[in-house]
Amino acid sequence: MKSLNERGFRFFAEVQDEPDTDSEVFYNPEMRINRDLSEAAVRVFSEELDTEVRGVDATAASGIRGLRYSDLVDDLHFCDPNPSAIEAVERGIDANGLEASTHEQDANTVLSRFRNYFHVVDVDPFGPFTQFLDSAARAANHRSLVGLTATDNSATSGSYPKVCRRRYGSRPLRNSFMHETGLRIYIKEAFENFARYDKCFDPKICFHHRHYSRLIGRVTESKSRANRSLEDIGYLSFCPECRWRKLEKVRKCGFCSNEDLSYAGPLWTGSLSDTRFTESMLESTPEDWEKSRELLEKIHSGSRIRKPYYDIHEMASQLGIQSPRRDEVLERLSDLGYVTGRTHFSPTGVKTEAPFGDLREVLSDL
Ligand SMILES: C[S@@+](CC[C@H](N)C(=O)[O-])C[C@H]1O[C@@H](n2cnc3c(N)ncnc32)[C@H](O)[C@@H]1O
Repeated sequence: MKSLNERGFRFFAEVQDEPDTDSEVFYNPEMRINRDLSEAAVRVFSEELDTEVRGVDATAASGIRGLRYSDLVDDLHFCDPNPSAIEAVERGIDANGLEASTHEQDANTVLSRFRNYFHVVDVDPFGPFTQFLDSAARAANHRSLVGLTATDNSATSGSYPKVCRRRYGSRPLRNSFMHETGLRIYIKEAFENFARYDKCFDPKICFHHRHYSRLIGRVTESKSRANRSLEDIGYLSFCPECRWRKLEKVRKCGFCSNEDLSYAGPLWTGSLSDTRFTESMLESTPEDWEKSRELLEKIHSGSRIRKPYYDIHEMASQLGIQSPRRDEVLERLSDLGYVTGRTHFSPTGVKTEAPFGDLREVLSDL
């Protein structure tokens, strides 16, 4: 095991580029952006709390994720059934002069034992997070922040629709915005799971990056809140002819009247992130965390717009025109008075409240 350092925290692990379930103590430097944004989210959340903060890094590996929360969490726990991982976590706790509890156990056992206890629950497994959802809902305090990572994106983005149906009970859609659809399927799954425990999972910052999706939501124990948010579970309709899309199940295309539409869902039709939360995150994220800030700025830029994003290249090719520059499109749509922003899903994507016909006109005029 090597001694490593991330953002000032010492920890112990092997370094591997590709996730490997047989690895001794796994560490993927590529996931630093995930940890940066998670730490920033925990910072914003913990500043709102007026109590002692209790947190758990439920799938710890080296423990670097939990170690990074150590300035923000008063009572910190780590779980991993792998003895080498727990040994590494304990070395990391010592090396950083901290006090924390370790559990060489399945996260489901530990989380189920600590009912309603944790204000911060972080689940970052290999593959899907589904097997930890029930116990995360048990362990989440009535005011908590829950982070979930999923790396089975090929299922939710439509490469393996049967796996998606089996695991998430949803139909995915393979197209230019498949990762947004996938993220909405994950949020639906998290929301419904917490709702079964009369808790509401409210997305604060959810994103897709490289090979994974990350959901961070505020959990509140509130039946009425969960009932209201049931309105945000629905379907997505997509017209393969003209590329029109809507977060609702409709029979015919709202633009070209095609009746042969594709559907995805059930999925989350609400916001993927909370603008006020991402703004606070931006304020508290150090300037020199450049790549993480870049991603956060894009997430923030599109956070006010619920509609799925459009890929300019795809739209231009469908219209038979040369693709205009994204910034020109954004500027023209804003000049027309439409709420418009970038999207973190694609460098050639735009988010806009503009009606589909107006977007096509803007693209054709540029
Ligand atoms: C992707 S790694 C975690 C990476 C770490 N969170 C980070 O940011 O570097 C997944 C870890 O989950 C652990 N794991 C697997 N099954 C588990 C279970 N049932 N409960 C808790 N941890 C588990 C594995 O041993 C592995 O160390």
